[in-house]
Amino acid sequence: MRMRAAVLEEFGEPLAVQEVELAEPRAGEVLVRLHACGVCHTDLYTASGADPSGYVPTVLGHEGAGVVEAVGPDVGSLAPGDHVVTLFSPQCRECVHCLDERTNLCLAIREEQNKGHLPDGTTRISRDGEEIRSFMGCSTFAEYTVMPEIALAKVSPEAPFEHACLFACGLSTGLGAAINTAAVQPGSSCAVFGAGMVGLGAVAGCRLRGAERIVCVDLSPQRLELARGQGATDLLEGGEGAVERILEMTGGFGADYTFEATGNVAVMRQAVEAARMGWGLCTVAGVAGRGETLDVVPRLLITGRRIAGSSFGGVKGRDQVPVLVDRYLAGEIDLDPFVSHRIGLDEVNRGFELMEAQDGIRSVIELS
Ligand SMILES: NC(=O)c1ccc[n+]([C@@H]2O[C@H](COP(=O)([O-])OP(=O)(O)OC[C@H]3O[C@@H](n4cnc5c(N)ncnc54)[C@H](O)[C@@H]3O)[C@@H](O)[C@H]2O)c1
Ligand SMILES: [Zn+2]
Ligand SMILES: [Zn+2]
Repeated sequence: MRMRAAVLEEFGEPLAVQEVELAEPRAGEVLVRLHACGVCHTDLYTASGADPSGYVPTVLGHEGAGVVEAVGPDVGSLAPGDHVVTLFSPQCRECVHCLDERTNLCLAIREEQNKGHLPDGTTRISRDGEEIRSFMGCSTFAEYTVMPEIALAKVSPEAPFEHACLFACGLSTGLGAAINTAAVQPGSSCAVFGAGMVGLGAVAGCRLRGAERIVCVDLSPQRLELARGQGATDLLEGGEGAVERILEMTGGFGADYTFEATGNVAVMRQAVEAARMGWGLCTVAGVAGRGETLDVVPRLLITGRRIAGSSFGGVKGRDQVPVLVDRYLAGEIDLDPFVSHRIGLDEVNRGFELMEAQDGIRSVIELS
């Protein structure tokens, strides 16, 4: 079939929206009609050429929500009409990691996904016979996508697409960092560094876990106000004195749980230093630049602080994204403030500009 898609032709160039070919789903694959897709930093990171593992041409986008249009052979868990959220982090339910509750890092299709292929080593998107690679296994800046069944979460049809798509990446990452990775205990104190999609999700996750005190740290007063709306009890301007201020707020000890959601290694260090002696757990969700390292004084660890990393919030996507969506539908999470701009597919490059200007939390491409 023919469809419109935003193609990255050259690194550093604007995406080119055009007609491309999409082939039928093969065994274990699903054709999804996309209705909404968030514009994320990872898309821009690849488009800019900064990501050394990037490739062109490719259709970017990985925060999609839509409806199953057709299924290929051997697909058992999805049928036409199902509402789905795309998962760059799949869940095969069979590999050694999927069978272990300690991790969500499914091993099934990693290698081919990193090369821009579907699991069988080929792609479904092409143009005049030329292969166009799949991005993060998703390629959702498009009217349709073909994805593996194991990389789609079936969610309630009651969730509006523009909200459902937020669960495909940053929101689930933040929520999961607090709910899964840190498993915040009721009554505890938390400090969240960064109030973008991930940090705001972490604030909401701390609140849902019953934290008593949630300090949110950011450089932007507007973003801190959004954090208050998600349950932050204290707002703090980021920078040099942030660790001291958090220590002061917590009787000199530091927070029971800290979260880093900026991608800045200096802030990661602050998040470790702001964690409580004895049992403080620092969860790192931000993605640092290539080659950057985290500088930590070992004494902080000897005296009981721990550091954990969190990819996609430790969320096993097919099992847990539907549960998170249900919690949103039950009124536990307010997603309206996160959708800052609604744009058409043709305006995808404007979505990048808005993100670079830190204008709003998410621009969502409407495809229906
Ligand atoms: N682990 C994962 O699976 C995963 C998934 C999605 C995103 N991420 C990463 O999480 C990070 C956050 O993503 P996002 O979409 O929320 O980004 P974002 O850019 O929207 O938010 C980052 C926030 O950090 C703030 N900030 C910058 N410097 C600061 C400082 N010194 N102190 C306090 N706050 C500061 C910014 O003002 C901004 O509000 C990124 O590194 C992103 O790549 C990780
Ligand atoms: Zn993303
Ligand atoms: Zn697996």
